[in-house]
This record gives sequence, C-alpha cells and structure tokens, in this order.
Amino acid sequence: MATTIGMLDSGVGGLTILRAIREQLPGQPVVYLADQAHVPYGVRSLDEVRRFTKEITQFLIDQGAKLIVVACNTASVAALSYLRNEYPETPFVGMEPAVKPAAEQTKTGVVGVLATYATFQTEVYNSVKERFAKNVTVIQNHCPGLVNQIEKGDLTGFETRKILESALRPMVAQGIDTVVLGCTHYPFVIPLIEEIVGPKVRVIDPAPAIARQTQRLLMEHGWLSDGIIGSEIRLITTGNAQTIEKNLPLYLGYHLPVESIQWVDEKLG
Ligand code: DGL
Repeated sequence: MATTIGMLDSGVGGLTILRAIREQLPGQPVVYLADQAHVPYGVRSLDEVRRFTKEITQFLIDQGAKLIVVACNTASVAALSYLRNEYPETPFVGMEPAVKPAAEQTKTGVVGVLATYATFQTEVYNSVKERFAKNVTVIQNHCPGLVNQIEKGDLTGFETRKILESALRPMVAQGIDTVVLGCTHYPFVIPLIEEIVGPKVRVIDPAPAIARQTQRLLMEHGWLSDGIIGSEIRLITTGNAQTIEKNLPLYLGYHLPVESIQWVDEKLG
C-alpha cells in the first residue's frame, strides 16, 4: 500500500502546498487537516500553536500518515523542532520563509517578506534573517486580515487588494526586487501581488521546493509510490465542512468531499 502523507495548516493555506505535492507525487495518498476552528494561527501565542500542532500530528498519524508536512509557516517555526523530538520515528517536512534564497539573489539589496505576526516573533525566523540576510535590507509586513480574506474565498476583491496594496506599495517604493511569501495562504493571491508589484519584482512561492523535499524524504525511506491507485486525498476540517467544500474549486480547481471533526477539551475526536 502506498505511504500516506499527512498535511496540516490552520486552514486552506496548506492547499497551496497540496497542489504542488499532488503535481509532483500523484501516487501518494494524502490526509490533510485544516484547523479552521482556530484560524488564524498568526495572532496566537506560539505555545498555543504548538499544542494544536502536536494534537493534529497525533491525529494524522492515527489516520495512517507516515510522513508529516507542516504546510504552515507559523506552525513550523513554532513547533517543528518540538514535533521532531516528540515523534523521532516520523519524518517531517517543515517550512521557513525563503529569506535565504531571496537574500542570495537580490540585485537591489532590498527584499520584502510577507508572513504572519507570530512568524515574525519567532527565534527561528529571526535567526534565519540574522544568518543569511545580514547585508540585505529586509522589509516585513504581516498583512493584517489577509488570512481571513483568503479563508472567506476572497482572492481578488476590494478588501484583499487594499491589504496587499498597503503592505506592498511601501516595499516597492523602497526598492525591493523580491517578495518572499512566508505564509502558505498567500500564494493564492499571487496574481494580485504581481499586479501590484509589477514585472520587475520576483515573487517567491515555496510550494515547489516543499514538494521536492517531500519527494526526497519519501525516496530516502523507500516510500515513493509508482502507481496512482488508491492515492486519494482526504480533507478534514475542524471548522465548517460545507464552506470549505463550496470554495474548493477556487483553491484547488476541483471539488472534493470534506469531512469534519471537532475539538473537545483540546483533543480531536
Ligand atoms: N498558513 C499559515 C502560515 O503559513 C498560517 C496563517 C494563519 O493561520 O495565520 O503561516
């Protein structure tokens, strides 16, 4: 039987990673948990995010997942090393804002980073910046409200555009040539971002790199599947299944059934 990949995010953001994983690894079954009861993670304490993420990881393992993709920057920077300690047998793929490649490739020496408020507070993020972007000016913005807009399915409307314009216009004025998308929700609004920053600014979407890393880990463990039989996707939300189901074509381009599960006393069941 093909090895199941477990994926998690606070909501629909990790579907940007799911798209890339699906493209690269069509033979791998996926079980994806969207913690929409708690979205957005980006305004929560790191401790809280760590507790949610631990419980979701356990849930995904109970559903048969052998490898976990933490398809959320906030959860990764808050909890990845903790999870690796708690589950030494389980390989994890995590994310951190792609500041390193941006700093290496910038010509103007100015890069923009869009991520959540929580991500910007973490040691992991600040140490990446410290190590790899010392000689580069990094301009950060946490785009208040953007995750909620994307969760609502508003990828192009007035409010979404307003949030992005107020984050990106000052960055462009200061000479950025690169924008790092440090939150997995944001690739859904790449067309709008590109429209605002113009053709001279490169937008870094981490999804393809995460899919490649997932493939590498599966290969290392001998878990790469070569067929596509039984490679279904299970989507599960802790929020409202109808809402996400209705909006799925916007995010994935197709319909899928969505299951729901409730948090009870900080446990999933
Ligand atoms: N998609 C998530 C991230 O990559 C979290 C967004 C949120 O829930 O605030 O950071």
